[in-house]
Amino acid sequence: MRLDGKVAIITGAGSGIGKATAERFAREGATVMVAELDGERGEDVAKTINAGGGKALALQVDVTDSAAVNDMVSQTIASFGRVDILVNNAGASFKQDLLEIDDADWQASLDLILTAPFYGCRAVLPGMIRQGSGSIINISSVRGLSGTGEEGYSAAKAGLINLTLNMAVRYGKHGVRTNAICPGTVKTGLTGGLESAPDVARTVAQRHPLGRLGEPEDVAWGCLYLASDEAAWVTGAVLPIDGGLIAGPLAMMKEFAGGN
Ligand SMILES: NC(=O)c1ccc[n+]([C@@H]2O[C@H](COP(=O)([O-])OP(=O)(O)OC[C@H]3O[C@@H](n4cnc5c(N)ncnc54)[C@H](O)[C@@H]3O)[C@@H](O)[C@H]2O)c1
Repeated sequence: MRLDGKVAIITGAGSGIGKATAERFAREGATVMVAELDGERGEDVAKTINAGGGKALALQVDVTDSAAVNDMVSQTIASFGRVDILVNNAGASFKQDLLEIDDADWQASLDLILTAPFYGCRAVLPGMIRQGSGSIINISSVRGLSGTGEEGYSAAKAGLINLTLNMAVRYGKHGVRTNAICPGTVKTGLTGGLESAPDVARTVAQRHPLGRLGEPEDVAWGCLYLASDEAAWVTGAVLPIDGGLIAGPLAMMKEFAGGN
């Protein structure tokens, strides 16, 4: 098993990408702390993992609360002895247009998308430095790499990429690896609206060169690689898992121009 004996904290693990990653990690031998704002959802995921022979514990946590994030890490260490992997995954969508964003919305997107991962990194780093190893995976977005709207969210996701790069450089010498994943459009709670609008879903899918929307598992496989010892020499990587979306807007150009 690829994560045998490792302890992982996954934030926002009650749904979508976080849930798929928690389940994948547990199947690969990791003990998983399912850190989730929605306590019931988190409990359900932990229960499913434990019922399937894996090992997981659920913790209700708001990752925008610095003290709660410190407590999440302390509780993980108290329960399982260490933290080997942190996946900063919790997220939500925010208003699209800059002119619609009031001060509170802007702050909320920074708090959840950028500041919360900072809290998580800061809380796990001392233990990882002491043990001389650790893997931190920040779930950013293709929106952090391009101008595609949702400005508060996107600017925060871009900031998260920079945080990832700086941490890779600063803490590499301690054996701590920090990488980012940039998903394209993935079928999760966050994009739930697409389910009830099949025409829109089809158009969005066609914008991805591979011709389909992502499944949460597509991203979980990337997390597994970056968390595992197979990625022992990988840090500071920014990995799009996006069906080719960020490679170029060919499908979108075709849509405007018609034909091939
Ligand atoms: N789905 C996509 O198309 C897509 C694309 C790019 C990036 N992402 C990123 O992937 C990550 C996971 O999103 P998803 O698509 O699986 O969405 P999701 O809505 O299915 O899951 C997000 C989870 O985060 C939890 N959460 C929200 N706020 C929290 C908080 N303050 N504290 C703790 N948990 C909290 C939610 O309760 C939910 O369970 C997010 O960071 C998102 O920005 C998603």
